[in-house]
Amino acid sequence: MWKVMWFGMVVGLAALWAVWWTVFGPAPGSPIALRPENPEIVAQGREVYHDACAVCHGAELQGQPNWRTRAPDGTLPAPPHDSTGHTWHHPDEVLFALTKYGPGAAAGNPAYQSNMPAYSEILSDAEIIAVLSYIKAQWPPEIRARHDDINIRAGAN
Ligand code: HEC
Repeated sequence: MWKVMWFGMVVGLAALWAVWWTVFGPAPGSPIALRPENPEIVAQGREVYHDACAVCHGAELQGQPNWRTRAPDGTLPAPPHDSTGHTWHHPDEVLFALTKYGPGAAAGNPAYQSNMPAYSEILSDAEIIAVLSYIKAQWPPEIRARHDDINIRAGAN
């Protein structure tokens, strides 16, 4: 009897996971795709953003002052993630790599000094997709549309 119940639970959990993965997992054929139209993913991303990113990139995605001017040590301040920055100039794959591996590694230049942390040991891939989806969900429709075009040109989606 217990065995049957256990078996039922395991099968049930596997089925739940499969449903969860279909709904919240990466879109098929495109493992790195932001999901700004998915309210659950965007809500999760908002939490990640305020826990992990807002301290540098600003609670309103406004970035740090004079973000185009390098500090005396050569590093750049954190740029805005709103439509005044250049986050939206990068396709999904590049934004994902920048966040997961940090700017130096993402650009193939590990010697590049940056204050932007690499999140590969801190956030899961799903959390990185979520936080970037939250950022994209804050952009006005015309910027989102232009970013969709950038993805198409990059062959990402
Ligand atoms: C300690 C400060 C700091 C934190 C925390 C931080 N960043 Fe950054 N971020 C930076 C800086 C500084 C840059 C500029 C990179 C450079 O040095 O060229 C940057 C750049 C970026 C870029 C590239 C933007 C562009 O226009 O090229 C992305 C994407 C990004 N950050 C995402 C995130 C996300 C997502 C989080 C939270 C999970 C986060 N950052 C947390 C400091 C930070």
